[in-house]
Amino acid sequence: MLLGLVITLYSSLALAKEVYRSPSHIALSNDGKQLFVSETTANTVAQLRSVSGKLVRRYTTPSEPTGLALSPDDKKLYITTGVSNGQVLVFDTQSGKKIASYKTGHSPTAPVVSADGKTLYLCNRFNHKVAIIDTESGKTRASISVKREPLAAALTLDGAHLLVVNHLPAGAANAGYVAASISIIDTKTSKVSNEFKLPNGSNGLQDICISADGKYAYVSHVLARYQLPTTQLERGWVNTNAVSVFDLNKMTFYNTFLLDDIDLGAPNPWGIATSENGKILAVTHAGSHEVSLIDRVALHKKLSPDNEETPNDLSFLVGIRKRVKLPGLGPRHCVIAGQQLYIAQFFSNDLAVADLSNTDDPVVSTLPLGPVQQMDITRRGRFLFNDGSFCFQQWQSCTSCHPSERIDALNWDILNDGIGNPKNTKSLLLAHKTPPTTVTGCRANAETSVRAGIRFFMAVLPESDAVAIDEFLKSMKAVPSPHLVNNQLSVSALRGKAVFKKARCNKCHAGDYYTDLNLYDVGTGTGREIDTKFDVPTLIEIWRSSPYLHDGRSQSIREVMTIHNPNDDHGYTKNLSGDDIDDLTEYVLSL
Ligand code: HEC
Ligand code: HEC
Repeated sequence: MLLGLVITLYSSLALAKEVYRSPSHIALSNDGKQLFVSETTANTVAQLRSVSGKLVRRYTTPSEPTGLALSPDDKKLYITTGVSNGQVLVFDTQSGKKIASYKTGHSPTAPVVSADGKTLYLCNRFNHKVAIIDTESGKTRASISVKREPLAAALTLDGAHLLVVNHLPAGAANAGYVAASISIIDTKTSKVSNEFKLPNGSNGLQDICISADGKYAYVSHVLARYQLPTTQLERGWVNTNAVSVFDLNKMTFYNTFLLDDIDLGAPNPWGIATSENGKILAVTHAGSHEVSLIDRVALHKKLSPDNEETPNDLSFLVGIRKRVKLPGLGPRHCVIAGQQLYIAQFFSNDLAVADLSNTDDPVVSTLPLGPVQQMDITRRGRFLFNDGSFCFQQWQSCTSCHPSERIDALNWDILNDGIGNPKNTKSLLLAHKTPPTTVTGCRANAETSVRAGIRFFMAVLPESDAVAIDEFLKSMKAVPSPHLVNNQLSVSALRGKAVFKKARCNKCHAGDYYTDLNLYDVGTGTGREIDTKFDVPTLIEIWRSSPYLHDGRSQSIREVMTIHNPNDDHGYTKNLSGDDIDDLTEYVLSL
């Protein structure tokens, strides 16, 4: 028995020591000699020599490193980190010492340094803002609102514009056109000067790169076919995977092409990079553990801004790209240094290095960032959730509709409530704690929904894998709301807390998770449903999951309580003053 105890103790210690490195971002030094890799679940950044792969040092960050950039002389490394306590850390790349830290907004990411090294741009993801920071003083010169959850950015070669990638669509989901966009910031005026619209259904935008000649920008994303009922997966009927191209001379959208083949999807495009000589465009497929090496010259011979059918053409890349299976799992960001393509492989804790001198049959090796680690059950669940390789013909992963385990801001007619009444995708945070699941409550619990998701959207998986997905989803933690002030309710939100009671919101949005787990008719039926009683949703992290109501008709909480509650069926809001509504909104957005 004692031996058993010792073994248990030993194995739990061994498990505790296991750190997953989960590399996500890579920055290449301007001289091409060094690589910096964010190891997101280890709270470290590795500095490596690019040719030998030798580890120079590791930088430690107080929380997940979310983005990396180098000064033009490669002497300074900028790391974004933190959530509500977002900050930029500045390190000396020769001594490894920390030089400075600047405070910034909520969940900073995607730092970009200007050519003169004087300005640092970054995206404060959950403030939906881009900060412009003076690198000398660390002061924020401007903070500019963009559309929604900016995740990546790139400066045009002349430095005149910053192209900002909005991760998700903003606005109501029952509109005719729903897509994420690119916000263009004029760096002289520090204002949004333009917006590039993408094809209907574009979402889950991940990364951007600009060709070495400065003429084109490329953005990787999912292209959802949300207008169709999800009756089949074949031919990209549900989700396709794409790259959108922008003409930077004319500053216009150029066209979008698909990365999928007719009978083989390229799920979850993530990192994107072009080679210095302009010949290659590389795009990683995070869901199928592959990279596409596209002949960029041939691509531009074929790609025309006038062909409206290109975004639907599943054979567009035939003959002009090579799909390369990678040695690891979960490829994310990538960079090209000369003839080497480096890819961060999140789930195998290493980098893939592809030799681009022969793109017909590239040699791919692995550069480990630490010892090989077994995945525990939660990690395996996370992996499976992001994995599209077990999906029928690899069209999608759970992440395709639930990016960051939350929402794609789209409505889907997923046929669990008849046909012709699409439902807004639900966040999976707290799904296991708040049965029943789906807005109509047609599934008893999240376990049932997870297995339905696997069966209807993917393929078959052993029960042990479904259990792993459950464990992963159960381990999710809510992100603190950007509406909190020093982690507390603001004065307005405190007043709103009282209004929440006065308007009887807490009758149904009760308990720790703000739901009594029942179904009610709150006057939101459209007339198409079999039943107009809906499951009371949790309000935790609701600041993050607009649009609202089962058909995503409401862009804001204010609209839920005003134009969509004309008869006081959904709490008593009719007689509330404008100030009360403001305070109530602020409170709900703080949960
Ligand atoms: C095609 C898009 C799509 C894909 C792919 C998808 N989901 Fe969903 N999921 C949805 C939508 C839409 C809803 C909300 C349905 C409703 O309310 O009727 C949902 C709801 C859920 C729920 C219930 C949440 C709740 O609290 O009610 C769970 C759990 C879930 N999905 C898990 C998964 C898993 C696991 C996968 C991958 C195996 C997956 N989903 C793949 C669109 C998708
Ligand atoms: C009678 C029960 C009940 C009361 C009272 C109630 N709610 Fe709800 N609430 C629901 C139900 C049911 C839904 C789902 C409706 C739908 O999707 O069409 C919902 C949805 C919401 C949503 C949208 C959530 C999402 O994810 O789309 C918000 C926000 C919300 N309620 C806030 C409030 C506020 C604020 C009050 C008080 C003014 C309130 N509710 C009062 C039952 C209730």
